[in-house]
Amino acid sequence: MKVYVPMDSAAKALGADAVAEAVVAEAARRGMTLEVIRNGTRGMIWLEPLVEVDTGAGRQAYGPVAPGDVPALLDGTLPGLGRVEDIAFFARQTRLTFARCGVTDPLSLDDYAAHGGLAGLRRALGMTGAQIVAEVTDSGLRGRGGAGFPTGIKWNTVLGAVADQKYIVCNADEGDSGTFADRMLMEGDPFTLIEGMVIAGLGVGASRGYVYLRSEYPDAISVMNAAVQIARGAGVLGPDVLGSGRAFDMEIRVGAGAYVCGEETALLNSLEGKRGVVRAKPPLPALEGFLGKPTVVNNVISLATVPVIFEKGAAFYAGFGLGRSRGTVTLQIAGNVARGGLFETAFGMSLGELVLDVAGGTASGRAVKAVQVGGPLGAYMPPATFDTALGYEDLDAAGGLIGHAGVVVFDDTADMLGLARFAMEFCAVESCGKCTPCRIGAVRGVETIDRIARGDAEAISLLTDLCETMKDGSLCALGGFTPYPVMSALTHFPKDFARRKEAAE
Ligand code: NAI
Ligand code: SF4
Repeated sequence: MKVYVPMDSAAKALGADAVAEAVVAEAARRGMTLEVIRNGTRGMIWLEPLVEVDTGAGRQAYGPVAPGDVPALLDGTLPGLGRVEDIAFFARQTRLTFARCGVTDPLSLDDYAAHGGLAGLRRALGMTGAQIVAEVTDSGLRGRGGAGFPTGIKWNTVLGAVADQKYIVCNADEGDSGTFADRMLMEGDPFTLIEGMVIAGLGVGASRGYVYLRSEYPDAISVMNAAVQIARGAGVLGPDVLGSGRAFDMEIRVGAGAYVCGEETALLNSLEGKRGVVRAKPPLPALEGFLGKPTVVNNVISLATVPVIFEKGAAFYAGFGLGRSRGTVTLQIAGNVARGGLFETAFGMSLGELVLDVAGGTASGRAVKAVQVGGPLGAYMPPATFDTALGYEDLDAAGGLIGHAGVVVFDDTADMLGLARFAMEFCAVESCGKCTPCRIGAVRGVETIDRIARGDAEAISLLTDLCETMKDGSLCALGGFTPYPVMSALTHFPKDFARRKEAAE
């Protein structure tokens, strides 16, 4: 009998370690032989700790499981959920990037290979760099960190640059509030990221890679470090990748906890041991990146999607999606929501279907007031915009951005003025200080929203002007995108900004 208990940090926060210990202790007490496998999460956080039992007739799921449920679990009398694949939230997904997450033992390379792992790399090893880059271009993959820049075009710039050394840098500084896809992937299927980075290296001619991983993710750091060692030991990394004579090796570097270090140039400075301050672009990192050399900087999900593209082909991947948003989006549902977690689906599902149907509306049972899509710099979308399809262009046309695909739900008790103030305050705290619209604008933004809260209606036009200045004049997305949450709150929820004035009068 095999018992799967996730070692994902969300599952652990909900008691998975205690459940795993209880399973081992109860089995020992009964003299039962069973194998406990610490898998990644299936991504249904409201069911964690979600335990799966495989008696040889398929994996049966139970959750949330408490240590006290373990005797009944082993007796086979605990009410179950059936197969994970049949749970509606899971059955509706198209799992490409996350196909193995929660299925395999994250640190078993054999398990990885048995579930399609390394097939993409083996195929890529038979291709030239230009062919690899063309495959990524044809897949339509765009940057999943937030900006949605075509990955193939980025790789092509690095491929075309002439240099004695090039680098692959994975941005794992997942700082957006309400996002966790990078963490889940690294904790649940780390070899996918490693394989994606090796393929990227083969594609652009880079022999060295770094994962810049935030210090707030200690579990992901230890899983990734262990996975790199295993991959190196098995010849997936090193001077002779899978016996091909081609070299690629990588290491994990830990950040120190600044949001702005998720911005690629601040990240590169931090990686070089310098202060995490944004660099002006150009030069693009693709031409002058880490240590001044041509560098691919891609998000975890972008790189972790590369293996499936090579395993199944560019046309297969491009066959999913909507318009110029090809493939799948790894949505992270959080906040005041009935069913939160990771939901991977082809681009194109409507925001309303995701929030009201898939996620089941709010946890409080009250009406949804707003959904913030795209992290702390994303817009607050009211129910009136719920027809919007989840795609880069569609959200942009509706005044929002998909960003890193975080979706945070708020019920009708949310104070939108307070949330707008929080956005400005967040920007003021996290600003790297390099440019004036952000460094000073965010501080003035907090003060201006406080004036509005005190009933000063004239401050509203001042806030609008300030947001325009920040949007147009900031050097990077932190200052440039803070106006999204602020202006969307003001535009869609004007009553929340007028209310205090009326109270003051
Ligand atoms: P950007 O639009 O300046 O650049 C996008 C990417 O394309 C960069 O890597 C850039 O170097 C590259 N690029 C542009 N032209 C190129 C060319 N000709 N050749 C090769 N590469 C080229 O956007 P930026 O500032 O990198 O990212 C902003 C986004 O980051 C926002 O949309 C926001 O949603 C997201 N974000 C994500 C966070 C997270 O936690 N994942 C946190 C904060 C923001
Ligand atoms: Fe730094 Fe803010 Fe300017 Fe970005 S917008 S460079 S974080 S001061």
